Amino acid sequence: MATKELILETLLKNKGKYISGEELSKDLNVSRMAINKAIQGLKQQGYTIKSVTNKGYLLENEPDVLNKLALAAELSKERVENIEVLESIDSTNIYAKNLAQNGVNNKYVVISNEQTKGKGRLGRTFVSPKNKGIYLSIIVKPNRDISNLTSITAFSSVAVCKAIENVYNIKTNIKWVNDVYINGKKVCGILTEASIEGETGKVDYLVIGIGINVNESTNEFPEEIKDIATSLKIQTGKEMKRNILCVELIKQLDTMIDNLDKNDEYFTGYKDRCNTIGKEVEINTFTEKKLGFVKALNEDFSLTIEYPNGLIEKLSSGEVSIKNIK
Ligand code: BTN
Repeated sequence: MATKELILETLLKNKGKYISGEELSKDLNVSRMAINKAIQGLKQQGYTIKSVTNKGYLLENEPDVLNKLALAAELSKERVENIEVLESIDSTNIYAKNLAQNGVNNKYVVISNEQTKGKGRLGRTFVSPKNKGIYLSIIVKPNRDISNLTSITAFSSVAVCKAIENVYNIKTNIKWVNDVYINGKKVCGILTEASIEGETGKVDYLVIGIGINVNESTNEFPEEIKDIATSLKIQTGKEMKRNILCVELIKQLDTMIDNLDKNDEYFTGYKDRCNTIGKEVEINTFTEKKLGFVKALNEDFSLTIEYPNGLIEKLSSGEVSIKNIK
């Protein structure tokens, strides 16, 4: 690590405390002049660092840039070794799929500050402006057979809800199957992609891609999604440092992946938040659109739908739109 990064690491680990130039110079084995130069460099990058004679340096504020050092201040060393933070990438899902094919660990995480070709479901684009949202993909290498991919995506939406609720203290909802909503507007989308062994049908790996709108203002969303999308800043009035939410999200995803057998727990977490049960919906099965009533959510995260002609059917994939909810 360069001197600048080593200093930042120390300041981040000692938030709220002054660290003397002498201490830094001794610990990092560099001259006081080099320390001074690195501090100036950090200030230019947007860090607010107070320097007081006889006390040292105090980190007062950080720019809202996702970076590994900020994550390292809150997560274990082993965890951080399996995280990659990028400035910009076409899509973290594409990048993570390449890594997964090349043998990285279960739970390896890729995060980017920007995506130039963020992928949404059904071939849509996921708008991913620079330094506004969290664009994260986590690789899952299940050590057991996963027959129901809907479940794991549903589990992920619960993990996202818990992370948002813990950090912002706000209620979230889930629109079937995996969109996270606040006050009737979408704040997060999830795209799970799987690599399946052709011969056995066994899941080789999964990439769960999560896009959360964090610090966007209404006028920063493109016209076509302005009515549908919202951000955590719009909903809470709080501009949160994305690293804080990212840490909590990674913790919740780790817990989820370690507990893939706890269907009951995640089912309850999902059902309690699901805004789709008991609603009239329009169903898009990709071959047709039809109206129906959602009678129940089943334990495999499918919906029981009653159609106007009285026919009752299980819906395991597709998209639903709810009246009055964008
Ligand atoms: C949707 O709402 O249609 C799903 C959106 C999924 C977006 C995330 S952002 C991180 C990951 N990388 C991508 O290209 N897509 C997912």
